[in-house]
Amino acid sequence: MTRKLQPGTRLVVASHNPGKIREINDLIRPFGISAVSAGELGISEPEETETTFAGNARLKALHSAKSSGLPALSDDSGLEVEALGGDPGVYSARWAGASKDFTYAMQRVEQQLQENFALDPDSRRANFTAALCLAWPDGETEVFEGKVFGHLVWPPRGEKGFGYDPMFLADGETLTFGEMESEAKHTMSHRARAFALFVAACLDKRDG
Ligand code: IMP
Repeated sequence: MTRKLQPGTRLVVASHNPGKIREINDLIRPFGISAVSAGELGISEPEETETTFAGNARLKALHSAKSSGLPALSDDSGLEVEALGGDPGVYSARWAGASKDFTYAMQRVEQQLQENFALDPDSRRANFTAALCLAWPDGETEVFEGKVFGHLVWPPRGEKGFGYDPMFLADGETLTFGEMESEAKHTMSHRARAFALFVAACLDKRDG
């Protein structure tokens, strides 16, 4: 049975990414939970050595929970391309290289798709996945996973969002994630879906 986060709890956000920390803070504030980031507590970032999103999310959340003595929430996410056997997957950030150049990362994906003659939408199927993990200092963990399916377009379109957003067109949409307003992306994104599962399982809405 899922352990709930009680109002008044301090939660460590197991991330050093200010954008992710802000998003998580906004999400949990209505539930009376306050968040502090791993960076603010001086907790290091562990190496992501697992081969699944859930595995890496678990590793990051456990590291923060054990270091701080507080419950911790992590996020691990990425793009999986069917024709590339699920690549870049857990290596999505690393495909952009040390300079975090996602124009280069998208070109790498496109080049491999072309080498596989993946030119029509059906052969360019892809999904974003996000795994959120809540870990407790005693080692208990729970993972919530969200996905959004679509296909990859070329050339990339739009300058909103981040990462691989400009080449991802969700099923039933005409705008890529790079062209969509963030509010629209948040109604359907992998991360929003994982958050919804986390909220339903671990947080109680406050009365009033
Ligand atoms: P993480 O910080 O190790 O979880 O790396 C996630 C990587 O996956 C990011 O650097 C992006 O490249 C990619 N990614 C995850 N979520 C999204 C998204 O919503 N849009 C675009 N790229 C994403």
